[in-house]
Amino acid sequence: NTNQQWGGRFNEPTDAFVARFTASVEFDQRMYLQDIRGSIAHAKMLTKAGVLTEDERDDIIRGLGEIRIEIERGEFEWSVALEDVHMNIEAALTKKIGITGKKLHTGRSRNDQVATDIRLYLRDEVDLILEEITRLQQGLLGVAEREADTIMPGFTHLQTAQPVTFGHHLLAWFEMLSRDYGRFVDCRERTNIMPLGAAALAGTTYPIERDMTCELLGFSAPAENSLDAVSDRDFAIEFCAASSILLMHMTRMSEELVLWTSAQFNFINLPDRFCTGSSIMPQKKNPDVPELVRGKSGRVYGHLMSLLTLMKSQPLAYNKDNQEDKEPLFDAIDTVKGCLRAFADMIPALEPKKESMREAALRGFSTATDLADYLVRKGVAFRDAHEIVGKSVAYGIEQNKDLGEMTLDELAQFSDVITADVFDVLTLEGSVAARDHIGGTAPNQVRAAVARGEKKLAER
Ligand code: ARG
Repeated sequence: NTNQQWGGRFNEPTDAFVARFTASVEFDQRMYLQDIRGSIAHAKMLTKAGVLTEDERDDIIRGLGEIRIEIERGEFEWSVALEDVHMNIEAALTKKIGITGKKLHTGRSRNDQVATDIRLYLRDEVDLILEEITRLQQGLLGVAEREADTIMPGFTHLQTAQPVTFGHHLLAWFEMLSRDYGRFVDCRERTNIMPLGAAALAGTTYPIERDMTCELLGFSAPAENSLDAVSDRDFAIEFCAASSILLMHMTRMSEELVLWTSAQFNFINLPDRFCTGSSIMPQKKNPDVPELVRGKSGRVYGHLMSLLTLMKSQPLAYNKDNQEDKEPLFDAIDTVKGCLRAFADMIPALEPKKESMREAALRGFSTATDLADYLVRKGVAFRDAHEIVGKSVAYGIEQNKDLGEMTLDELAQFSDVITADVFDVLTLEGSVAARDHIGGTAPNQVRAAVARGEKKLAER
């Protein structure tokens, strides 16, 4: 008993292991909706082209509708012998409506069919991902606005650098995500091209109307070249690249959240519902969500490498290698969606420990640059000012006093231009408020940036 779809030229059945080895139905069945949708559009187009009658078309649409319901109810019997989602559905259709089912595949190949299904599937998933990025960004704007005045130490080299506002810090994350959003939009644009009509590789002899199928399926254009249409998977690679960069950004956020929740930083509290405990250490509350997001980046980077390697050196046109595109792509999709969902839920619930952040900003001479700028305003050259402040810091380390804690006499011993107004610039509030320009950390700039961000999201 050879395969009912392509067994004509075969003299013996497929080896049982080979059948399992070459089958993809276990993982490509998740594209059943796209497969059915594509087949319905194809049938409508074949009718317009005079290949199918209207009755045949209606039987096909009805049959596929029933199959869809069976799949959704879990009643559909997937068969590994039928290899993939496409042949499973086609065989079921033929079983249901008879000979007409066998006409559906006219002018079509699984090669253009599968490429179409993946693109439809990915397009829908990208839309969901875009929504989740927006939801996460919305959450960031909310917290940034609330914490526009909250002061924390800013770091370079993870050493205290200058005071910043917590809102400003969160808006840095917002910007990273804005670029990620743009990358997924770009990816969607190149994904939304229709392979159908390319057939196996060279096109088809039937009078097909690709523009019609294209419109029915919501693609922006039919693929220009049939050989390219059935064979390339660069859109899937592009998706994994955009996903990798997004997750790279999310690992940076994760790392900071992990640091900030530690007793040593003590900058934020993550509500209990986003944490888990230890089975041995009763005191523990672990930031599992950011840790796991940090870890999950690895699998998505891996999928990017898998797909690049999969496509490397493949001659035109379709090769069976391409069946290996699905598991990495699907896992990348699932992983990205999971990470985004966890973060979008968690971010609005961050509880900053303002006193502790402020305390930390008061340590580490975070206003040293402000003192240097003050000296410059009083006529000292910047390099000399740098030296003077460096000496004051050395004195502070010795005396265990931050700059703001020194008396005027103590400060004035390093430069005679220092007078009582120096204390205005040595406060944390003075320091952040002075960085008052687009992109700066001043609270009013943070509020303005939040407003611009809101506008940007509203225009999406
Ligand atoms: N299951 C196949 C895939 O995922 C569908 C296309 C197979 N085409 C073929 N001629 N074997 O790529």
